[in-house]
Amino acid sequence: MLEVRGLCSGYGRARVLFDVDVAVRAGQVACVMGRNGVGKTTLLNTVMGLIPAVGGSVVFDGVDVTRAPTHVRVRSGMGYAPQGHETFAPLTVLENLKVAADGLPRSGEAIEEQLELFPRLRPLLNRRAGLLSGGQAQQLAIARALVAGPRLLVLDEPTEGIQPSIVAEIVEVIGQVAARGVAVLLVEQYLDVALGLADTVTVLDAGRVVHSGQAADLSREEAARLLAV
Ligand SMILES: Nc1ncnc2c1ncn2[C@@H]1O[C@H](COP(=O)(O)OP(=O)(O)OP(=O)(O)O)[C@@H](O)[C@H]1O
Ligand SMILES: [Mg+2]
Repeated sequence: MLEVRGLCSGYGRARVLFDVDVAVRAGQVACVMGRNGVGKTTLLNTVMGLIPAVGGSVVFDGVDVTRAPTHVRVRSGMGYAPQGHETFAPLTVLENLKVAADGLPRSGEAIEEQLELFPRLRPLLNRRAGLLSGGQAQQLAIARALVAGPRLLVLDEPTEGIQPSIVAEIVEVIGQVAARGVAVLLVEQYLDVALGLADTVTVLDAGRVVHSGQAADLSREEAARLLAV
């Protein structure tokens, strides 16, 4: 579903990613790991077109989107929940979902599906997103990314700084989404969450891939070693 080849990008003259390859199949979770500042968010932002690629290619469902603007990628089926559970703070939970569902043929049903996936959001529909807890806001951010029915879901540290009970719910939802056939590209720092969900693992260090393979072939010890500071 997603094939990233030889990707290079950065900020101005500062190169951050060097020749990064990563692929995600439909119904699978590809986990990208690595210490703080190695370029995980830069990778996802480049995949989504928020940062231009300086080299390499991003192919989504057989279509080269390397130069496509972000809204075109989103419209073609790429959903993104960026790091830091961003939502529209002054809008209510329902308004946030409506904005994300705007223009969909069956937006009411699409929103209802998200509320079934995230039942905690239902009693909060009229609350302003800026007043949600971190975990609630993260659920809303994922629901917003899912509302248009993407074939690829891109998630940047969805469990960062969130209480364990909500982490478990988010992990459950990611598993369900993948089980429905959606490809998931997940940046995750927590080893247990990552190894629990991942089909494949890619480890970055200083903007380069230092490990790539099936999650089942990666022991906890080896993963911990790759991520050690
Ligand atoms: N807007 C920016 N302008 C310039 N440099 C940036 C910018 N954003 C990130 N960087 C730099 O790019 C490198 C990679 O940052 P990035 O945010 O991709 O790392 P990360 O792996 O997502 O880190 P974290 O685990 O803390 O989220 C870092 O050296 C960072 O300082
Ligand atoms: Mg990051």
